[in-house]
Amino acid sequence: MGTLHILDHPLLQHKLSILRDKNTGVKEFREIVGEIAALMCYEATRNLPTEEREVETPIDTAKVRVLAGKKLAIVPILRAGLGMVDTIIDLVPSAKVGHIGLYRDPETHEPVKYYCKMPPDISERQVFVVDPMLATGGSASDAITFIKEYGCRNITLMNIIAAPEGIEKVQRDHPDVDIFVAAVDDHLNENAYIVPGLGDAGDRIFGTK
Ligand code: PRP
Ligand code: URA
Repeated sequence: MGTLHILDHPLLQHKLSILRDKNTGVKEFREIVGEIAALMCYEATRNLPTEEREVETPIDTAKVRVLAGKKLAIVPILRAGLGMVDTIIDLVPSAKVGHIGLYRDPETHEPVKYYCKMPPDISERQVFVVDPMLATGGSASDAITFIKEYGCRNITLMNIIAAPEGIEKVQRDHPDVDIFVAAVDDHLNENAYIVPGLGDAGDRIFGTK
């Protein structure tokens, strides 16, 4: 079973409180999503392998450690996942970005795929799937299934808020995937929205409501 990492760092919790507030406007919401993504990336990349190198400092030779092993790919689930990409790329500039477009059917809440474009060497990369919300888990589970079809075996999921139902689904469908979240909320409502959640992440990032 993949590990569920609940990141309860005070900075994350404080920023999350701003996202949850219905009075937070689009500009601040978008900025804070980015800041949270960077902090989560910092934790989710904690165990990346490193190897020893030597560099000449102005004073002497220093033994240093640099990233080794697989390169990274970030795969946002459109739309809301886009809000997490830029600040992660700032931290890991060599990462490539794949995109998966999914929307939830308003009646069935089942994900519908409308776009998919992956870097050609994605199967050689460690993949971080990012989306602020893990509700029923349908979107994340389908996205991970699509990515596996490209031959990827090393996949991590990062969500800001998760519902217990979504965590259960991803763990059931993809027991090899580790999940990083900043909060696990109470339940889903009749429209499959996370309670208390933060509302519709895509609408709040892009100002579409
Ligand atoms: C939201 C969210 C996730 C999905 C989560 O996207 O960003 O992708 O719902 O729900 P699930 O776990 O029940 O699948 P939405 O479908 O609203 O599309 P959008 O990002 O384009 O607004
Ligand atoms: N998608 C969202 O943006 N919010 C939810 O609460 C559930 C799905």
